[in-house]
Amino acid sequence: MDFGIDTIIGQSAALRGALDLARKVANTRLTTVLVVGETGTGKELFARGIHYLGLTHGEPFVAVNCAAIPETLLESELFGHEKGAFTDARSQKRGLFELAGAGTLFLDEIGDLPHKLQPKLLRALEDRRIRRVGGNEEIRVNCRIIAATNASLTDAVARLEFREDLYYRLNVFRIDLPPLRHREDDIVKLAMSFIDSIAQDSELPPKHLRPDAIAALRAHLWPGNVRELKNVIERAAILCEGNAIGAEHLMVQHRTSLPAGRMTPLGGEIRIPPGGKSLDEIEHEAITLTLEITGGNRSATSRILGISRPTLARKMREYGLTPARDNVA
Ligand SMILES: Nc1ncnc2c1ncn2[C@@H]1O[C@H](COP(=O)(O)OP(=O)(O)OP(=O)(O)O)[C@@H](O)[C@H]1O
Ligand SMILES: [Mg+2]
Repeated sequence: MDFGIDTIIGQSAALRGALDLARKVANTRLTTVLVVGETGTGKELFARGIHYLGLTHGEPFVAVNCAAIPETLLESELFGHEKGAFTDARSQKRGLFELAGAGTLFLDEIGDLPHKLQPKLLRALEDRRIRRVGGNEEIRVNCRIIAATNASLTDAVARLEFREDLYYRLNVFRIDLPPLRHREDDIVKLAMSFIDSIAQDSELPPKHLRPDAIAALRAHLWPGNVRELKNVIERAAILCEGNAIGAEHLMVQHRTSLPAGRMTPLGGEIRIPPGGKSLDEIEHEAITLTLEITGGNRSATSRILGISRPTLARKMREYGLTPARDNVA
């Protein structure tokens, strides 16, 4: 499987900025990287990209999800243990820090690292040394640590759930991955690349996207980000019997609630990129965001936007915005 940084698709300024940072850090000896982004934005893809592009290439890539393993187990997973350190420790075990060698240790969902383990991780990052559970020997740490989070660590610091000193240590080199709804231009490129890889796997000619499908893809807010887009395209490729994928093949639902781990509240900001933006694009975004805020309620949306309901309906048709069927009041 190819994990190279070249497999990361996106031309938007925000994604190019993130790729640039990834390339820069990959070839330095800087040992800690923090990747921040909503679910499905490509945090693990970036972590692997940095690993395989850089000096760590050819060394192990070891991943662990800090939210998925109970505290006591996580400690011995990360740091290893000596024989007899606790009841089940029948033999000595090397931890993931040791197994990662001179490669990369990917600490996923770092915000969920139990409080008790936070000072131990800080020590490993600062002194580049660890001790196995129940051991006295100091073991050198050589790996790079890439930590990922989809939640705001500053909020966790404010709630005293995450140590401030560890936060600052992790935050030295931070890469923010933009949500897909902030990089509309990447949506179609990503969709086409997923269509191409499906075609390669099935050895059939690639299907193409009809204009109504493109409009629907661009209008959707993608709470599950690139992962959701990939799934939607895979389903569409199966549902579509001909070679033209249309809006009817795309199972995108209008979002009425926030996904877990989303960092911004409902709504969002309309940003004008350096290259500028047309009034139509701004209007499209204003309507999309207001529909999001009202959960797809067209009366409330037209009231907020100061336009009549028929005008809203017409504009929604023009922009290919499909209303939620169960919430069209
Ligand atoms: N820019 C991109 N180009 C190509 N594929 C991408 C891109 N971003 C994400 N993907 C794909 O989307 C899927 C989700 O990516 P990944 O697992 O890296 O997300 P994540 O941020 O780690 O999500 P989570 O927080 O849910 O763990 C993967 O299949 C990945 O290959
Ligand atoms: Mg992940």
